[in-house]
Amino acid sequence: MSEQTTFVAGAAPGAVPVVGHALQMMRHPVNFMTSLSAHGDLVQIKIGPTSAYVPTHPDLLRYVLTNDRIFDKGGVFYDRARDIAGNGLVTCPFADHRRQRRLMQSAFTRTQLKRYATAMHAEIEATTARWHDGMVVDAFPELYGMALRTVGRTLYSTPVSPELAAGVERAFDVVLNGLFRQMFLPRFIRRLPLPANRRYESNLRFLHRTTQELIDDYRSDGAAHDDLLAALLASRDDDGGRLDDKEIHDQVITVMAAGTETVAGTLTWVFYLLSQHPEIEAALYEEIDTVLGGRAPNWDDVPNLSLADRIISEALRLHPPAWLFTRLTATETELAGRRLPEGTTIVFSPAAVAQYEDAFGNPTAFDPDRWLPDRVSPAARQAFMPFGTGARKCIGDLYARTEATLGLATILGRWRVTCEPDMDVRPVPLATVYHPRRLRLRLSARAPRPAATPVPAPTGGEPT
Ligand code: HEM
Repeated sequence: MSEQTTFVAGAAPGAVPVVGHALQMMRHPVNFMTSLSAHGDLVQIKIGPTSAYVPTHPDLLRYVLTNDRIFDKGGVFYDRARDIAGNGLVTCPFADHRRQRRLMQSAFTRTQLKRYATAMHAEIEATTARWHDGMVVDAFPELYGMALRTVGRTLYSTPVSPELAAGVERAFDVVLNGLFRQMFLPRFIRRLPLPANRRYESNLRFLHRTTQELIDDYRSDGAAHDDLLAALLASRDDDGGRLDDKEIHDQVITVMAAGTETVAGTLTWVFYLLSQHPEIEAALYEEIDTVLGGRAPNWDDVPNLSLADRIISEALRLHPPAWLFTRLTATETELAGRRLPEGTTIVFSPAAVAQYEDAFGNPTAFDPDRWLPDRVSPAARQAFMPFGTGARKCIGDLYARTEATLGLATILGRWRVTCEPDMDVRPVPLATVYHPRRLRLRLSARAPRPAATPVPAPTGGEPT
């Protein structure tokens, strides 16, 4: 990239011996990442003893993410993520990626998504059917359970026992929450027989064993399936190649791990942001009532729920749930005028560029209408990377948006949701996905206005 010479490299102040910037980063990941742009377009930080570089200029980050041969998957995050997801699509190196992506793509087409929307809706209905008027729910755990069961249902339509489902939910919880702790701990501490390490290891073993048993049962039951796992098993590339058994196992875990806390985090932040912006909240209720008129939403409604989609985009910009990924340089290279030896760690955080001043006027404000088609600028589109970009961009972005929109429309169509005053929106320390410590939602049953007006033509939509 020739313009690279105009980028400025710098270093973040305040690194502490041994842990580096890990404490600041874990205390408030998004604030830490956002603050880095004051020190340059490429900023050196320390994660424990490891030096890493964070692109804070959107063009520089795009350059890194679109050059995945040089900036390959690896580094502290992906080293630990491989314990969970093996060599699945998120974690695999450049050498395996294109083939895996081609084979996975057939499970994420619009035709498939339309099918999954039915399963999503069924799971959202099942979750909300357990709610009653005046009930208070803990937002993140409730929405996490819903998202995990939703991915489970789209992936694997065969019913599993409630005990097994609950066991898988608990194990994912332990493993995903342990990931960042494992990432920051020195290897010798990870190997000590401490209760937390033993719990992490035993839940990881349970997850791998149960996943394999579920896949084996699924393949041997002789039934015709029409779900995500069926699409993965049937997938063939041009020369007849397919995902082998180990790859299927890794993809199932990958999808479960990548598609649950992220969606729950997004929806949790949406409820918080709505509670802080009553006029936007009122407009959203209005949109939902106008589009749905009291009925349940489906796949065809999603494009008409354009304010919901813009709110989700703005929540993803200000509170990106997936806030830290790493790359490792596969060869010596140059970035922002810095020579980076082979094996240098690069940190990709959507938060580091999401408040870039040249792209977003009033960047800290929650303004869903900045994503209106006649307002959104090319620079804003360029700086919006909560799902990454390039060949490694999230394969589940439309899945996630569909689920979040259906979830929001189903919930707010039936319930007036208010946040309890005891909220604590400081992020949970060491959580893999960025979400608040405490946000409890009070649910009051509402009778939505029946549809009186025709459904409006779609406007707005995905900013990327
Ligand atoms: C709001 C929800 C989500 C967010 C914010 C999110 C974010 C991301 C990001 C940033 C990446 C790129 C990681 C990197 O470049 O290192 C990614 C990749 C990926 N995501 Fe998501 N994700 C979400 C939901 C989902 C869902 C629902 C699924 C599956 C059902 C999913 C499956 C994947 C997979 C398989 C990849 C790897 C793609 C590849 O390397 O080709 N994600 N996601």
